[in-house]
Amino acid sequence: MNAPERFLAACASKPVDRTPVWMMRQAGRYLPEYRAVREKVDFLTLCKTPELAAQVSLQPIDRFGMDACIVFCDILIPVEAMGVPVTFGDGGPQLERRVRTRADVDALRVPDPLVATPFVMETLRLCKRALLDRAALVGFTGAPFTLASYIIEGGGSKNFAATKALMYSQPATFHALLDKLAATVAEYAAAQVAAGAQAVQVFDTWAGELEPCAFDEFAQPYQARVIERIRACGVPAILYVNGCAGVLESMARTRADVLSIDWRLALGDARARVGSGVTLQGNVDPTVLLSNPVRTAEAAFATMEAAGPIGHILNLGHGILPQTPLECAAAFVDAPKANA
Ligand code: CP3
Repeated sequence: MNAPERFLAACASKPVDRTPVWMMRQAGRYLPEYRAVREKVDFLTLCKTPELAAQVSLQPIDRFGMDACIVFCDILIPVEAMGVPVTFGDGGPQLERRVRTRADVDALRVPDPLVATPFVMETLRLCKRALLDRAALVGFTGAPFTLASYIIEGGGSKNFAATKALMYSQPATFHALLDKLAATVAEYAAAQVAAGAQAVQVFDTWAGELEPCAFDEFAQPYQARVIERIRACGVPAILYVNGCAGVLESMARTRADVLSIDWRLALGDARARVGSGVTLQGNVDPTVLLSNPVRTAEAAFATMEAAGPIGHILNLGHGILPQTPLECAAAFVDAPKANA
């Protein structure tokens, strides 16, 4: 099997010659060749320059040979296109306007992805052309709840106080915001498929901060809308929630083809809860890769053992950390190849 065949077979819970592997945030600061590009351009310019964005998307594939290549961009790019300017400093993303009222929500645009974010589609086309069959090309989008949290907080957050205060005190306004975000990112995801994405991952990173009934009301239905749009394009949808243990069954009801699991939940337990027919992705703790290659390979093997050979994509439980040694990243990607 070539890498796209292997990756797509795993997404469909079909037999594979070996477990496919990639890493969330695999294009990033742990790579010296990424840091070299970032010395010359700032992060947003990198996202918006297709030649450079494609170059850094391919860097981890060229070095390690993962089975999937995720397009280099950021989940906040469509938010900017909705009318909320974003900047990236050392402390993470900062949004210029905070959306807190119904009037703020009504002022947001639902952009045409081809007009507002053509550079993302061009990056995908360039990646596809350069990859041939070396790796499956994966597009991505943030999910409505996680994007709403950035829009409301104006950046990252520890306890999501402003987000949850709005959610519990003005649920209609909150739903109106989620509705606009879902319309935006569903079309953004569909445009990525038209530009060559062979699968799309939906990042609802912070939805695991919700109590389960709030997840069912404010996160899951909007995830499901985006996932339905992706699947209607004929490609698999992958759903990631950090801290998913309390909401796993609800995630499965989105009909995502793949559930991407963080490290707090054992894959054997996840499988027992969701049954067969849905693929599991994950779930090594990214801090394991701060140890050494032997310990890293052991963790990868244990994860493959817990998941079984069918319906598993080896990945981390969240993004790879910038301080990860290259030899540990290599040991992680090589583990399924040694196992074959
Ligand atoms: O996976 C990949 O290799 C593709 C690229 C990718 C980035 N961001 C690049 C990036 C993806 C898929 C994302 C998604 C993203 N962005 C998420 C969801 C996934 C997750 O990790 O939880 C979130 C919450 C964001 C928002 C965001 N962007 C934050 C919180 C930060 C700052 C944190 C940090 O690591 O510095 C970013 C910046 C960012 N996005 C960087 C990269 C490589 C670092 C920017 C730099 O080069 O200085």
